[in-house]
Amino acid sequence: MTNDDLTALRAANLPRGVSATAPVYAAKAENAIVTDVEGRDYIDFAAGIGVMNVGHSHPRVVEAVKAQAELFTHTCFGLTGTGPYLRLAEKLNQHAPGTSPKRTFFINSGAEAIENAIKIARYATKRPAVIAFEDGFHGRTYMTLSLTSQVDPYKTGFGPYAPEVHRIPYAYCYRCPLRLTHPACGCECAELLRKAFDKYVSADEVAAVVVEPVLGEGGFVVPPAEYLGKLKAICDEHGILLIADEIQTGMGRTGKWFAMEHWGVEPDLLVTAKSLGGGLPLSGVTGRQELMDSVHPGGLGTTFGGNPVACSAGLAVFAIIESEGLLQRATVIGERIRARFRALQKRYPVIGDVRGLGAMAAIELVDDPVTKRPAGDFANIFRAALYENGVINIGAGTFHNVVRVLVPLTIEDEVLARGLDIFEQTMAETAASAS
Ligand SMILES: Cc1ncc(COP(=O)(O)O)c(C=O)c1O
Repeated sequence: MTNDDLTALRAANLPRGVSATAPVYAAKAENAIVTDVEGRDYIDFAAGIGVMNVGHSHPRVVEAVKAQAELFTHTCFGLTGTGPYLRLAEKLNQHAPGTSPKRTFFINSGAEAIENAIKIARYATKRPAVIAFEDGFHGRTYMTLSLTSQVDPYKTGFGPYAPEVHRIPYAYCYRCPLRLTHPACGCECAELLRKAFDKYVSADEVAAVVVEPVLGEGGFVVPPAEYLGKLKAICDEHGILLIADEIQTGMGRTGKWFAMEHWGVEPDLLVTAKSLGGGLPLSGVTGRQELMDSVHPGGLGTTFGGNPVACSAGLAVFAIIESEGLLQRATVIGERIRARFRALQKRYPVIGDVRGLGAMAAIELVDDPVTKRPAGDFANIFRAALYENGVINIGAGTFHNVVRVLVPLTIEDEVLARGLDIFEQTMAETAASAS
């Protein structure tokens, strides 16, 4: 079947709400190359939205999946336990930031993990409210959509949303909510959390603050070094739990196992998904033992959560990150990408900001570097051309004007360089046609 055949099949069978960046269908994928059904190769700068940190079809993941599938594929952990589930929980407990003893359990998707983290936080604190952030993204189920900030396309028309969710601005320095400049500001935006206790909800009614250590969907916004520590200190003052959503930032993406390590902050609950399962659906909640154990037996679980095939893949992911030095590699890749982007920024004023952490790298596009008016249309044209030129890519940002790069951490130097050359050439073409 050709791409056109599959597009026709799609039109005849899928709702239009399930959108597609391009009319391209994968036939196979290996490391950072996806090959479509017509044999055309694409360089993968999106990694299935940060899922393929260890690359597509890594032989060790494939081997682990095959070996487990030959033994058995499902029991439901609540009925009959499995070794892969327990061994992967042990890995997460060992690698989660901080020194407190940890406990972990598994579910299937990022959103489901955030749902469960909120359940645990409410149960443990006996408080109802949750505070989330502007430009934050936590999923598309009702609780997580309530926590998610971005309206278009996620929230439009789907309300009403869950009660007891409050929102404060994030430390988005390029568009500072307080119009201040770091470091002179003293990271004043962290104090907005304290102000929320007067403006929106009493501190003693707040169960948790849910935060992405680096905004993913919101545009790879990296907060100042002191921000998360300040949030944690304010939470601690009031008995509020800090939930780190490391669904996109975790599993080596930022050059550490988890991004919170960059700032030495131990979250009360850590939420993982995406690259945890090496391409299979898997997510986890890891937290301080006493919090996790506060929930009564039977209060946590799901039919497929911690599926043994997915957990075996997860164990392979841990082994690959360790044995292939992917934490260091993430740092090298990210610096290389941002260096190219900074060079481009000198030539193309449409690139208002270059930012990221480890192998999260992004450009924010603006119509004018002074007013910083978001260049969403330019970003759309650029991204479509980039795909057309052979690079799978992904946007971000509340105003759809950020292009983020999430390459597999295993990408070969030559493939990365080729992808960046195409990025540069596409920027030149798009800028020329826009002027
Ligand atoms: C930070 C963050 N949280 C939550 C989610 C939701 O995860 P899922 O799509 O697996 O439900 C995502 C997905 O992109 C994410 O990036």
